[in-house]
Amino acid sequence: MRIPFVAGNWKMFKTTEEARVLMSELLPGLAAIHGVEIAICPPFTSILPVAAMLEGTGIFVGAQNMHWEESGAYTGEVSPTMLAEFCKYVIIGHSERRAYFGETDQSVNRKVKAALMYGLVPILCVGETLTENEAGITQEIVNRQLREGLDGIDSVSISSIVIAYEPVWAIGTGRAASGDDANHVIKDIIRYLLGQLYSENLAQDVRIIYGGSVKASNAGEFFQHVDIDGALVGGASLKSSEFLSIVKAAAG
Ligand code: PGA
Repeated sequence: MRIPFVAGNWKMFKTTEEARVLMSELLPGLAAIHGVEIAICPPFTSILPVAAMLEGTGIFVGAQNMHWEESGAYTGEVSPTMLAEFCKYVIIGHSERRAYFGETDQSVNRKVKAALMYGLVPILCVGETLTENEAGITQEIVNRQLREGLDGIDSVSISSIVIAYEPVWAIGTGRAASGDDANHVIKDIIRYLLGQLYSENLAQDVRIIYGGSVKASNAGEFFQHVDIDGALVGGASLKSSEFLSIVKAAAG
């Protein structure tokens, strides 16, 4: 049985003070919801205060990115060992990282491997752009991102990874994929490929979530599909009432 998973990706929003305010709005509501695993992914500077507030709540902290090396002369970077002190999860290969910071399937793969090596759970993001979608090559793109992103990941590790299907055209645009379209990619493309690469059984163990303009008003459309195991929420995770409703919807 896969436990639903909802992660809030705060992106580059919230000072530590603002993070504390948002967390105090969220905590009472989140603590009352059962049956969903929840992760809050604040910017690096707020990881420590958010982790302190989440201690003992069963809610996890995630990072939005990391370097693959354990340490070294990499000015401006944060390592997996540093994150593992506070975080359970780390978002890897978000489309904004791929588009604006030169991340490739190869660097994504190194990060996925490093996350696993240091005990972090990678949330591996894949998804096609609008042009790719319109050209009808979604399957080709998502398959390539998965094959290369998961290269060298063995069948022991695969079941602990979370995969986020995030069509680039749906991120931050207010234009979400339909529940049926997201389900098609998640079930017939992503879970199908995992079955080919690993096994049918292992493919059934992997949590695959949807991301891209998820909000309170459309969350149920995704979670009604048994193959969609939750959501990676950007903009709506910055509003306590929206995020709470989304997590509640995932709880069923
Ligand atoms: P959005 O972002 O919910 O604001 O579309 C999702 C994401 O980037 O993970």
